[in-house]
Amino acid sequence: MKSRSNRLLHAWLAALALLSVYYLYRAVDYRFLHADRLGPSLLNKQLWYSCHALLALPVVFGAPLQFIPTLRQSAPRLHRAIGRAYVIGASGAALLAIYLGATIEYEGSRLSIVLTGGLWLFFTLVAWKAAVAKNFVAHRAFMIRSYAMALVLVWLRVMDDFQDYLFFYVQDEEMRDATREWASWVIPLIVVELWISWLPQVMRNKSVEPNPLRE
Ligand code: HEM
Repeated sequence: MKSRSNRLLHAWLAALALLSVYYLYRAVDYRFLHADRLGPSLLNKQLWYSCHALLALPVVFGAPLQFIPTLRQSAPRLHRAIGRAYVIGASGAALLAIYLGATIEYEGSRLSIVLTGGLWLFFTLVAWKAAVAKNFVAHRAFMIRSYAMALVLVWLRVMDDFQDYLFFYVQDEEMRDATREWASWVIPLIVVELWISWLPQVMRNKSVEPNPLRE
């Protein structure tokens, strides 16, 4: 039973890793490999796009390894080293995402991106603090939340590729872009909270817990 759930976890992580590399390639191709898309000068976005993408690399390549239980148990030093690279990379990339999002030309996307970046930063720092305090239950939960936010890289572009099916009811192009921007992090966050927080809370064995109303 355990090996079956481990196989499922590995398959899921491999799928996320492959999707991340594929969409990273497309994002790099879009922004860096075509003339006139990187901004007018070094300090007017060129440097910030480049640093954002570079800092996010340990997230793309490191995060899937961090969730493999056998690797965590057999190589704890490697887990800690990748974890440090993740925290530094994700925090820097999130800060730059906030700046790039606040100044993006699409006004309907600004608040959504700034909130995503803020949550990504917050979840990452809480996960790190929890690991230092050896609170591994909170550490796991906040790492999952942080990675779900980082994967906006994937969710946004999947929603873009399938927008004619997912957002067929939104005809206006700008409205559709904004809807997609919000959906790309709100929906993954709801799914993650259902999985790690809301469902476990209501399914917990009731007989084990005292009733505070009867005290
Ligand atoms: C591992 C995660 C991530 C990677 C590898 C990554 C990578 C990239 C790359 C390569 C670009 C340039 C391509 C483009 O402009 O579309 C970019 C742009 C951008 N990213 Fe990320 N990103 C990640 C996560 C995020 C997250 C979570 C956010 C939201 C908070 C975000 C916000 C942005 C913004 C606002 C831009 C500029 C878009 C524009 O000006 O049109 N990124 N990212």
